[in-house]
Amino acid sequence: MRPHNLTTRIFLDGGDPAQTRRVIGALGFLDGQTTNPTLIAKNPEAAARLAKGLRFTPDEILDFYREVVTEISGLIPDGSVSIEVYADKNTSAGRMLAEAGRFFSWIANAHVKFPVTKAGLEAAGRAMAEGLRVNMTLCFTQEQAAAVYAATRGARRGDVFVSPFVGRLDDRGENGMDLIAGVARMFAGSDGHVELLSASVRTMEHFLYSLALGADIVTAPGSLLMQWAADGLPVPGADYAYPAGALRKIAYRELSLDKPLEEYDIAHELTVAGMERFSADWNALIKR
Ligand code: E4P
Repeated sequence: MRPHNLTTRIFLDGGDPAQTRRVIGALGFLDGQTTNPTLIAKNPEAAARLAKGLRFTPDEILDFYREVVTEISGLIPDGSVSIEVYADKNTSAGRMLAEAGRFFSWIANAHVKFPVTKAGLEAAGRAMAEGLRVNMTLCFTQEQAAAVYAATRGARRGDVFVSPFVGRLDDRGENGMDLIAGVARMFAGSDGHVELLSASVRTMEHFLYSLALGADIVTAPGSLLMQWAADGLPVPGADYAYPAGALRKIAYRELSLDKPLEEYDIAHELTVAGMERFSADWNALIKR
């Protein structure tokens, strides 16, 4: 059961409904799930198909993604399920928006994932105007999170998530958890319309520190959530000491949340690299 002192919502980061069932069984609850193209490629059915040298047609892969998220949605009808649009460096806002509309019609509890790029933010702003809910992904800086805030002003709380990626910053020696702490601090005095979703969580320490920092949401792989359940669902207090080791500090920046969107510098090489990786994993599923 949900610990009484847990304020963060717990999401599973995965693309396999069987795993969702196992995690719900172990935790006794689950607040949502995030998917992405890489996780869909790792779905056992998709992976088996690839292993046999078989691929999907463009229509088949969308049908497959729809079936997967529909099944997951049925397991957590009161939660949220994130579905990621296709985005490489050339994908227009219009194309992302069209795909988002389609995804949003699949299930009643979707958040559509767009990258924090110029096109992604434009698509998200237009999606919000059409009544869609969004999860802005591949966020690697506090300034990108501020831009998400600016692009979605006026949104209802619950309709916008921003997903800073912890593990991919750690991968290059930077302390990704500093970004979570920085965005949480920056949003503390805001109107609260953007919820902080701690993503690319790879270790129990990432997970526990996300809880201690009071992230609105944390998404974590199934193996990590199963371990958390086996450990008795501990929820650390604000005094939790995160073992950053040799990771380089990411300094907090005083940023205004009131500027026009165009004034934020949203460039980050890991956002570009992340889009390349997600689009390559998606394209590898499709026969041309
Ligand atoms: C979730 O929304 C993200 O896509 C996911 O957490 C990324 O994790 P990774 O950096 O381990 O691929």
